[in-house]
Amino acid sequence: NWNEPKLSIRVIRISFMIWRIYFMPKILIGFMGAGKSTIASLLDENFIDMDESLSEKLEMPIKEYFERYGEEAFRQRESELLKELLQSEQVISTGGGIVSSIQNRKLLKQNPENIYLKTDFETLYQRLEEDQKHQRPLYLNNSKADLKSLFNQRQAWYEEVATKVIDVTTLTPKQIVEVLQ
Ligand code: S3P
Repeated sequence: NWNEPKLSIRVIRISFMIWRIYFMPKILIGFMGAGKSTIASLLDENFIDMDESLSEKLEMPIKEYFERYGEEAFRQRESELLKELLQSEQVISTGGGIVSSIQNRKLLKQNPENIYLKTDFETLYQRLEEDQKHQRPLYLNNSKADLKSLFNQRQAWYEEVATKVIDVTTLTPKQIVEVLQ
């Protein structure tokens, strides 16, 4: 019977797809201030915050690492951590610059669930201004115009790797989580 092998191949494929969705991480991407960590914490209280894990590994705040070793060194360490985390099954909140390198974009494209929290530049900038808690080197060291061009450049990259895009401009965190669950 010729149909039997086809059926078993289909069963294997479907099981693989299910396995990929359940046992691969759910990755949140977006520009600084998009709310990645807030949403990740609501989706899973054991979420991994890449910036936090990095500053633990680097044994200093990210801002200090930027000052001492520069952005390129930071990107290297960030990329290593991304590779490691792609083997996990957790909710992951990334840093806004995760999409900057082509290697990271290639890695992200292999993951079945990358959620892009999208909003406009003015909304993000306002949030960055109001956020006293985080010390973001790129926000602190760049003019508004520079940040805007960084935002424009990255937009296409977020879209390129996203498997789901949510316009979060007018949504509350609770509403965003509802969309995702
Ligand atoms: C960065 C964003 C930050 C942090 C670092 C660089 C960026 O993370 O990784 O300051 O390049 O956009 P958040 O997006 O969580 O602020």
